[in-house]
Amino acid sequence: MKRVFSGIRATGRLHLGNYFGAAKGMLKLQDKYDCIFSVVDLHTITVPYDPKILKQATRDIILDYLAIGLDPKKCHLEIQSMIPQHVELAYLLSTIYQVSRLEDLPTYKEKKAQYPKYINMGLLYYPVLMAADILLYKAELVPIGKDQEPHLEVAREIARKFNSMFGQTFPEPQSFKTEGEYVPSLTGDGKMSKSVEGSYITLIDDLATIKKCLAAVPTDSGVIGGELPKAGGIANLFTLLKLLKLDKEYIKFEHDYSNKKIKYSDLKNTLAGTIFEELQIFQKKRKEFENNPALVDSIINDGQNKCLDMAEETMQEVRSRMGFG
Ligand code: TYM
Repeated sequence: MKRVFSGIRATGRLHLGNYFGAAKGMLKLQDKYDCIFSVVDLHTITVPYDPKILKQATRDIILDYLAIGLDPKKCHLEIQSMIPQHVELAYLLSTIYQVSRLEDLPTYKEKKAQYPKYINMGLLYYPVLMAADILLYKAELVPIGKDQEPHLEVAREIARKFNSMFGQTFPEPQSFKTEGEYVPSLTGDGKMSKSVEGSYITLIDDLATIKKCLAAVPTDSGVIGGELPKAGGIANLFTLLKLLKLDKEYIKFEHDYSNKKIKYSDLKNTLAGTIFEELQIFQKKRKEFENNPALVDSIINDGQNKCLDMAEETMQEVRSRMGFG
């Protein structure tokens, strides 16, 4: 059966970008394939972080995974640092990949600009560890948002290089994208991101917080009537209508926009109500898991045991092909 792998960093609660961009794809694939979904805590520490909260932040993503409907009977949930083979494989793969390619990646350049005093080896190495995550399980499909595509290209390049140097071992992983592959920021500029304050709505937000976040979306573009704008706050509100499958409302508000009758407060209220409704199911389920720590511990342990076996199988092959042991 085809293998699937994806991961999310432990940088806070999931937001709508993670939900539409990655989680929806994970949910679809868990019914069909052999899936491993990870909390990539080792990737989390390449930017400034607080070691006192990392453990809880990691567990929070496991709780979020369970609450959105990832089912441990259908998929394996892992915590990356509990499977040491990720790091071992990443080191081995790093010896066959060029530094110059890593220095050219847009995500590396962005993070360098964002944290000029925190340019560490781990940050440069980040895509190699991500390639190792995927190749460790010989995953063929990777549900991710659009921003991760350059990293997946690195994983494919590494797989090809390894296969040509040491013999056919790894499949070339392909991304699995959903309609929400690019969820825009509520600031009206760029993508929804945990590192940009005011850009996101998290899955645990209450109605008042959701309304407050949406109220801040800039709608004063100076232009109204005619065709909808392609970028900016107004365009992003319409994108959210689409992602939430509010098709009738989309047509109505689009009509109001072109007739210069649009009331953004109505549009924002419609969005807030629907987002909150969708999140309530999630929030209720999350509470249930929060109140059952023994169950969550056993899910984490089971995931670890199964993933250790799968990871070790690949590593034995890799070590032998590379001339070790
Ligand atoms: P991370 O933690 O930044 O994001 C997790 C997932 O959410 C998606 N995403 C978005 N999708 C659409 N619109 C957005 N605004 C948006 N924001 C985030 C991301 O594309 C991602 O799929 N490098 C990865 C984590 C990782 C990984 C892996 C992923 C490590 N190893 C192996 C897949 C396979 C990251 O930083 O994701």
